[in-house]
Amino acid sequence: MATPRILSGIKPTGQLHIGNYFGMMRPAIDWQERGEAYYFIADYHALTSVHDPQAIREYSRGVALDFLACGLDPAKAVLFRQSDVPQVTELTWILSCVAPMPMLENCHAYKDHLARKQEEPALHGLFAYPVLMAADILLYDSNIVPVGRDQKQHVEVTRDLAEKMNRIFGKILIVPEASIRAEVETIPGLDGRKMSKSYGNTAPLFDEEKSLKKKIMGIVTDSTPVEAPKDPASSSIVQLYRLFASPAEVAVMEEQFRGGGVGYGDFKKRLFGAIWDYFAPMRTRRAELESDGGYVNRVLREGAERAGAVAEKTMARVRSAVGLR
Ligand code: AMP
Ligand code: TRP
Repeated sequence: MATPRILSGIKPTGQLHIGNYFGMMRPAIDWQERGEAYYFIADYHALTSVHDPQAIREYSRGVALDFLACGLDPAKAVLFRQSDVPQVTELTWILSCVAPMPMLENCHAYKDHLARKQEEPALHGLFAYPVLMAADILLYDSNIVPVGRDQKQHVEVTRDLAEKMNRIFGKILIVPEASIRAEVETIPGLDGRKMSKSYGNTAPLFDEEKSLKKKIMGIVTDSTPVEAPKDPASSSIVQLYRLFASPAEVAVMEEQFRGGGVGYGDFKKRLFGAIWDYFAPMRTRRAELESDGGYVNRVLREGAERAGAVAEKTMARVRSAVGLR
């Protein structure tokens, strides 16, 4: 492969958290050194669950600031808002016309909704979510899609749709691959389930000190008494600490788990300290960027232009292949 095209997106549905950071943002930022990177704020996707215009706008700006503060460099990677390139909805429709219902019925977001037996019926947007995501990826001729483990199925749907389009209309789309870092594929949340904005169990990247401390101190643990030995392998405290501390520091904590005599509260304080220190330079950077009122808008405007140019080229090819022009 010559220069790979890398693409990923993140939904503006809440504050970004350390699951997003290690699962997707950090890998994506590393990729900007190795290829042509396109990263976007998935605001069309956010509309499947957030119906509050002010919230969408605020979270979108927050995602951009977080990404930039964490090291996304607009000179190396294109950062844009999904809805600034509306061609993606056009490609979504074309892909919908070859997307089998059973494949979408098998996708996890829709299945989870049915499994939870809620009063609210599933919305078509939720059902069609993977088709929009496939359009995101295929519109930009992406080779590599850095994501967390939970998105693997969606990239497989994308591959299937691209292959099907290519079989029917000739080779018009690039078949992408997911890139998932094994060591951070699923970061646990405060309650031990996957950390997720929709579970309310997150440790946000840029929380207030007091609020973050409270969340970390609230990590769910068992009732093993202070003096008793504890199992480091099953503890989300240790799992999270590993992301922030040196191997030697982790070894000390594991030893103290096994030895007994140290309570969970002490371990949580240590974890909080490690998280707080780790994000200190990014916090400073974020405050600087935030004080420059027009900066984010300039980055997004330029990103939209660059992304739009690529999108229009792909759409011209697709429209012509399917017989629309
Ligand atoms: P979302 O917040 O659902 O838009 O997710 C954005 C990106 O972060 C996706 O690539 C997810 O796979 C990744 N991600 C979200 N939560 C986690 C987690 N707990 N562990 C690892 N990756 C995650
Ligand atoms: N569905 C992804 C998530 O929830 C976000 C997303 C939308 C995405 N479009 C994408 C990720 C395209 C990678 C590529 O995390």
